[in-house]
Amino acid sequence: MKSISLKKRTSDKDQFAMDPDAEIDLEINSLSFAYGGPDSDFKVLSDVSLKIHGAQLVSILGPNGVGKSTFIHCLNKILEPTGGTVMVNDNDLSEITVKDLAKVMGYVPYTSSDNFPLSVTDTVLMGRHPHSKWGSIDDDLRVVHEMLTLIGITDLADRNFNELSAGQHQKVMLARGLAQEPRILFLDEPTSNLDVRFQLEITRMLKRLSRQKNMLVIMISHDINIAAKYSDNIIMLFDGGVYAVGRPQDVITSENISHVYEVGAQVITDNGRPHIVLVDDDDTDYDDDHNYHVLRTG
Ligand SMILES: Nc1ncnc2c1ncn2[C@@H]1O[C@H](COP(=O)(O)OP(=O)(O)O)[C@@H](O)[C@H]1O
Ligand SMILES: [Mg+2]
Repeated sequence: MKSISLKKRTSDKDQFAMDPDAEIDLEINSLSFAYGGPDSDFKVLSDVSLKIHGAQLVSILGPNGVGKSTFIHCLNKILEPTGGTVMVNDNDLSEITVKDLAKVMGYVPYTSSDNFPLSVTDTVLMGRHPHSKWGSIDDDLRVVHEMLTLIGITDLADRNFNELSAGQHQKVMLARGLAQEPRILFLDEPTSNLDVRFQLEITRMLKRLSRQKNMLVIMISHDINIAAKYSDNIIMLFDGGVYAVGRPQDVITSENISHVYEVGAQVITDNGRPHIVLVDDDDTDYDDDHNYHVLRTG
């Protein structure tokens, strides 16, 4: 018969806790990851080192398949790095329990195909789980209502999660991540299903909340212009590592965009922020015998 040993904590000091007023420090040292394990030839990430300090909005950019989601998964303990360390305020991530981590770190996954046969309120309430030991259900419901109001979806509160559109799902998952009240929030393409108004509103809101809630927000994005407009810093991943990192004006250059994304881009400045205009050299006209609606000028 298998025996199960339940380790009892000797003291509360063993538990990882972060002072709510402390500045956030995330330190990534020589991080590597390969899905085939440390001996695999195919490393998705190799030797990534970065320090991120303080409450801010950081965007991760890079082409499809470069390792953006993998990178985030190595930082929030979904994956175990095959090399290197991640330190959260001088605590080694590998030694923090998932339960303790959930009190300080939140994650809004890529458009979730998860099925929650629950109401929107109950789905967002799941975000309160790490705190449930302390708060009353009334406190939790108050936070849930606050987040639904913030995201502008109070009208969905009683709807069934499974009956919503992709964009509505995304807003509910965002509310759930915020209801967790984490100190570090990771988001994987949080606005990919939202129309342009909400892409702007949500990204602007994430930046504001980073200040108001003293929270480090790290977001994967495909919208270079919105990332450049609101991010404090940008991490551009390419070829297994960090290709460029720093302020938007230093990272979003036409050289970097054309190298990493393989597209021509002109960078203009809008309100002090870089803004890319894609340059298309292919002028092929397809209006010959095709069955399309051909819209002509003039
Ligand atoms: N579970 C997995 N098993 C094996 N390879 C994977 C797995 N998930 C992702 N990959 C591969 O790892 C690389 C990085 O993927 P991912 O981190 O999802 O990229 P991104 O988020 O930048 O699009 C890709 O080549 C992808 O095919
Ligand atoms: Mg991804």
